Amino acid sequence: MTTVSPTAVIDGIGSCLPPRVLTNEDVRRRGVLDTSDEWIRTRTGIARRRAAEDDTSTGDLAVAAGRAALESARAGADLVLVATTTPDRRCPATAPEVAHRLGLGTVPAFDLAAVCSGFLYGLTVATALIRTGVCTRPLVIGAETYSRIIDPLDRDTAVIFGDGAGAVLLRAGDRAEPGAVAATDWGSDGSGSDLIAIAAGGARQPDPARRRCRDDHYFRMRGREVYGQAVRRMTESSRAVLEKTGWSPAAVGAFIGHQANQRILDSVADRVGVPPRRRYGNLRDVGNTAGASIPLALADTAAHRRVSPGTPTLLTAFGGGLTWASVALTWPAVRPLDRAPEPRTTDSTPRPTPRRKTWTLSTTTS
Ligand code: UT7
Repeated sequence: MTTVSPTAVIDGIGSCLPPRVLTNEDVRRRGVLDTSDEWIRTRTGIARRRAAEDDTSTGDLAVAAGRAALESARAGADLVLVATTTPDRRCPATAPEVAHRLGLGTVPAFDLAAVCSGFLYGLTVATALIRTGVCTRPLVIGAETYSRIIDPLDRDTAVIFGDGAGAVLLRAGDRAEPGAVAATDWGSDGSGSDLIAIAAGGARQPDPARRRCRDDHYFRMRGREVYGQAVRRMTESSRAVLEKTGWSPAAVGAFIGHQANQRILDSVADRVGVPPRRRYGNLRDVGNTAGASIPLALADTAAHRRVSPGTPTLLTAFGGGLTWASVALTWPAVRPLDRAPEPRTTDSTPRPTPRRKTWTLSTTTS
């Protein structure tokens, strides 16, 4: 009997950006910040970002991006994973409601909290679930509404973050197919947990309103220290995942890093050895969208058909925790779709049940 070892293959990509655009000048004026469009552009590479309206939640963006990914693949999903730092509620997770609104019935659904590394953590988990036969069509969504947790008066964060969602639908497939995940790498260092944090709202400081410390409810980042960690961790993780695949840096045809800061992205790509013409992203137009950053950049690059299917691709991310992750895959042959945020009404439109393929598992992993 032939032994077939499946891996995850990207079958669909979708995205959703809320329509409201905030320019650098809008952000400066709103917080009366001591900053400028020129400083933000030259120090971060960001020109504008999106902000969700008050009646649009992370779940709404996740549903729209997830639906677009399902439509792009013309298929359903048998698991939903939502990577987010801005869930609709502290309890329950956002993913089950997203799965329900996508008409996916009673599929397993859960949130994953790894801040800006969340989507690549999700891709790593979903790949492992496919390789071990737990599911065959996981939908991995990165969705955020940082506009809800950013202090408009804090210039360290207000100029950087934006809202949005991106999603990929995976399926079990062959390692030679375009879109196949070749290797993954991930890690964490909790000694840096204070560098990116929201102090209140958790078990340590549960009720910010009563304690009159509403400021602690905002997302805070020690930018300079995070900068150094981001360059170091994404460089090391990128090298580690390339080593697992056996690809040389020269073989990488597409590099997409967490869209945090153009200077960080360039430092990482320079150190790894990926030339500028092979670097892709949309930081200038959407800012740092945290867990949504990588899938939004993937969707944008795919929509513009900038990379040919089968091209060796390196994804890398870094975020609070501290956490980091990298995924090596080949560029998928997909038709990405973009959707506007959907209204909050529950939509239980039935979706097709995924066709199941039977795989015989080998013990080989990479
Ligand atoms: O998504 C999770 C991971 N996040 C990241 O990877 C983000 C990492 N950090 C960064 O992107 C950058 O550190 C920031 C964009 C947050 C800050 O940029 P920087 O180049 O590291 O600035 P800095 O803190 O070293 O400050 C340089 C100068 C200082 O002025 P002086 O002392 O040189 O006169 C700051 O006061 O820039 C000043 N500055 C600003 N000026 C205008 C700092 N922030 C601003 C600002 N507008 N927003």
